[in-house]
Amino acid sequence: MNLAGRNLVTIDDLSNGEIMALFSLTDEMSADMKGQFGLCQGRVMASLFFEPSTRTRLSFETAMHRLGGSVITASDVGASSLAKGESIADTARIVGSYADIIVIRHPWEGAARVVADYAGIPVINAGDGGHQHPTQTLCDLYTIFKERQTIKGLKIAIWGDLKYGRTTHSLIFALARFGADILFYPSPGLEVPQHIIDKLTTEYGGEVERVAPSDSADRDLLPMDAIYTTPSSPHQLAMMPDISVQVELQEGVDALYVTRPQKERFTAGEEAKSAGGKYPVVDKKLLRAKAFRKTLVMHPLPRVDELAYEVDADERSMYFKQAARGVPVRMALLALLLGTRELSIPGMDSPAPMEYPVYHHEISPRCPNPRCVSIQSTETKYLKSEFKIVKTRPLTLRCVYCEHGFEPKFVASADWHEHKIDTRKYHSADSHWVTTIRPENLIAFNTEEEAQAHGFKPSHFTGGHH
Ligand code: NCD
Repeated sequence: MNLAGRNLVTIDDLSNGEIMALFSLTDEMSADMKGQFGLCQGRVMASLFFEPSTRTRLSFETAMHRLGGSVITASDVGASSLAKGESIADTARIVGSYADIIVIRHPWEGAARVVADYAGIPVINAGDGGHQHPTQTLCDLYTIFKERQTIKGLKIAIWGDLKYGRTTHSLIFALARFGADILFYPSPGLEVPQHIIDKLTTEYGGEVERVAPSDSADRDLLPMDAIYTTPSSPHQLAMMPDISVQVELQEGVDALYVTRPQKERFTAGEEAKSAGGKYPVVDKKLLRAKAFRKTLVMHPLPRVDELAYEVDADERSMYFKQAARGVPVRMALLALLLGTRELSIPGMDSPAPMEYPVYHHEISPRCPNPRCVSIQSTETKYLKSEFKIVKTRPLTLRCVYCEHGFEPKFVASADWHEHKIDTRKYHSADSHWVTTIRPENLIAFNTEEEAQAHGFKPSHFTGGHH
């Protein structure tokens, strides 16, 4: 099979079989890093990094050089035309006419999606705000796979900033797809966003349990928040959270994935809280717990204080290996997307992507995520908000760019009232109306003011909001 011309914007862009094929090509690259020089000769990779990076940018650039290709780079918003107010779409079109493949890191969530829509060449997301970082996930999965020969059925604990840690978001989805059990250990206040939990349960058929901290001796060590289990490995003890925690820990955790607090994305409130609060630290003492006897200690790096240097010499530590593997993983990815290598894809069951009705009326709410690319002033001149209707009760829209979910409070129908201004009515989104309006006619509003600004009047079903 041929992956030529494809994008990697979210981890969902690769099936399980494709990821496994990429790993076998990674093995081939690792076995002879200096022997791949002819593979991408004459090809140009554009490396656009509008946020700090060491590993991701340098490993991509090393990978392209080792494949015999060349690299052009823009790594500072201030030094590129973005500083003059150029849109992402225009930048994408221009770079797309110079290079053969684009690697982009950007602080706005959904930015890589926009680049992929406009560049006309393959685009790889090297991190878009707090959304996703799919190539880091490939390095993480490859490390787990090399060390454990499987991913299915493993227990992987994810630690730290699960709210803004984009590497954890892509990793959670990938682990769920491969049938791992995931244990969440968020730093207080930095729990996994609800839209990610929703996607896990609705699209991967998983179960999520919230577990109150038990009275066990481990409580201080392991501030457990939730367990995500896949249906492929049912837990008989799922109904007894405290006991199931004990069992999980007795059996041991296969990997502990540590992340730093993503302070650059904190709100003022979170900033203040983090200054006073304690962020959990992985050190020698913690790793003495029985549950971690054979645990792979992983981290996407950079680390700050959450992972003690004393752990570096421990044979369970994997983070430098993870980073080193970034080069062969990215060599394999570049060669596949540029079409200079083809591969046979092992047949594997991968959950089919969920099909949702699309919201596509002219009148549309704005994505409420302040970091979403679709609401930035340079982008609204050409980008239209676009949502998937993922649920009707409560009505939930998911932005196609940043994938945040939100619940608009009011609805109207384009069908019944379109040409009759005086009967344009809006209703509360939790009234029965939401189920009678067909998705293609749905109009949603976040506030009554928004509805009224578009000439809609309140119906009897506005839930006492007027
Ligand atoms: C991560 C990132 O940029 O999201 N770094 C990386 O690419 N290895 C993790 C981080 O910055 O904490």
